Amino acid sequence: MKGLAKIELQINEKRITGKRSPMLYGHFIEHFHRQIYEGLYDPSHPMADEDGLRRDILEAMRNIKVPVLRWPGGCFVSSYHWKDGVGKHRKPLFDKAWRVEEPNLFGTDEYIRLCRKIGCEPYICTNAGTGTAEEMSDWVEYCNLKSEGQYAKWRIENGSPEPYKVKYWSIGNENYGRWEIGAKSAEEWGRLVRESAKMISHVDPEAQLSAAALPDIDWNINLLKNCGDYLDWLSIHEYWDMMPEENSPADYDECMAFTDHIDHSVEEVRGILKAMKLEGRIKIAFDEWNLRSWHHPNVHTIRQGIRKEDYITPRDKNDENSMYTMADAVFTACFLNAMNRNCDVVGMANFAPILNTRGCIYSHKEGIVLRSTYHVFDLYVNHMGDTVVDLWAPSVPDLRVTGKDGREKTVGALDMLATTWSEKPGVALAVVNKDREKSFSICLPSDYTGSKVTIYRLNGKEADSYNDVGRTEITVRREEAGRYDGKAEIAVAPHSVNVIQVMP
Ligand code: AHR
Repeated sequence: MKGLAKIELQINEKRITGKRSPMLYGHFIEHFHRQIYEGLYDPSHPMADEDGLRRDILEAMRNIKVPVLRWPGGCFVSSYHWKDGVGKHRKPLFDKAWRVEEPNLFGTDEYIRLCRKIGCEPYICTNAGTGTAEEMSDWVEYCNLKSEGQYAKWRIENGSPEPYKVKYWSIGNENYGRWEIGAKSAEEWGRLVRESAKMISHVDPEAQLSAAALPDIDWNINLLKNCGDYLDWLSIHEYWDMMPEENSPADYDECMAFTDHIDHSVEEVRGILKAMKLEGRIKIAFDEWNLRSWHHPNVHTIRQGIRKEDYITPRDKNDENSMYTMADAVFTACFLNAMNRNCDVVGMANFAPILNTRGCIYSHKEGIVLRSTYHVFDLYVNHMGDTVVDLWAPSVPDLRVTGKDGREKTVGALDMLATTWSEKPGVALAVVNKDREKSFSICLPSDYTGSKVTIYRLNGKEADSYNDVGRTEITVRREEAGRYDGKAEIAVAPHSVNVIQVMP
């Protein structure tokens, strides 16, 4: 195309990076603000189903084929006792993590019903803050034993005769952090995880276990020395635009700077696994990630908020939809590309969270808003392949941007991924254009001449476009581009996420 920088792609479908797990497109939901109560679980709502779950939200979750949903936290879980949330007599308790009342009306049974309704794997994060190895393994008894013991019998009494077969269990959440209730030293952590893993595996040897890890040598070496034999996963978390205290979102260019070495945590943990000869046996569960951290001032601090307007009301700021622009979509696509490229060691990733707060779906009394990030999951889940193959471009232009820290960064202007399907011919390319102003011209390899080209273009008019109630600026446009003639070029617009399917 006239005047556009040409990007000649070289694709080798035979050079396979790996088959990515569908769980790379996983999600997370926590008992925080309006994610569960007044969000997904709202029995009085006109769109609530027989279990009090919003039908419109469930439908949106099904449309992005949620493969796995991590629950109930997050910081919430580190003082949560699961037994309070099952059975006929639910006691409202004070949630010491987020300093609100937990009504305990949505518990394990409701969560499992939710997972069945959206067709996803449950992934339960246990309380390694104030909890014990015994309490964790009792939870596994409740969910996975047929009828042996009091907890399986309790599940049956509560109306579920068959075991839930929960495969994925995480021991703890961020217990390395001073902000976490029941934070642990590396030594304490290794010991607790080992004893918990031992008891859980005595209840259900098929349970797959993860434990909170860090891209930190000491923490992980101690954890892996103590528990490497018990673990199937290492759980890591990352938020790039950190604003727990001040709700000051990074602007477009600052968000693009965050894409620099976006997979650094994976590389660091991969190195530790390799050094301990555990690579290939233990996988990474990147089970909390999002461009933007959640905003909840005066709680992850020593001095707690006194007035509700100091620490509760500000949580509503997470729901300002104008914050979730094409920057969030572009970053999310770059992250998913990086996880695909690392699919040999990353087996799961969970967007934090799926609903409200920084989620890809926003719910309000009359309906839902699909934020920009939702459409990225829609594109990747529904239009990209399951096998990552080699893609190279000799000349990807640089993009100079200034980060939130004021430092200049050079990142690639384009982030691209090539995938194929294990069950059908063809190739699907994700082409992410980070440049706020420039378009680029994509040239397919000539050996795709004659192939049918379909392009899905996710974009808004501006980099700062966003969706809100009664406002839809960001959409996915499907474009049938006909048969490739060996020379036609595909323009990718500024600040856009594009999936190009090239089918026989
Ligand atoms: O900001 C939300 C918190 O982020 C989650 O509860 C926790 O896991 C992480 O620190």
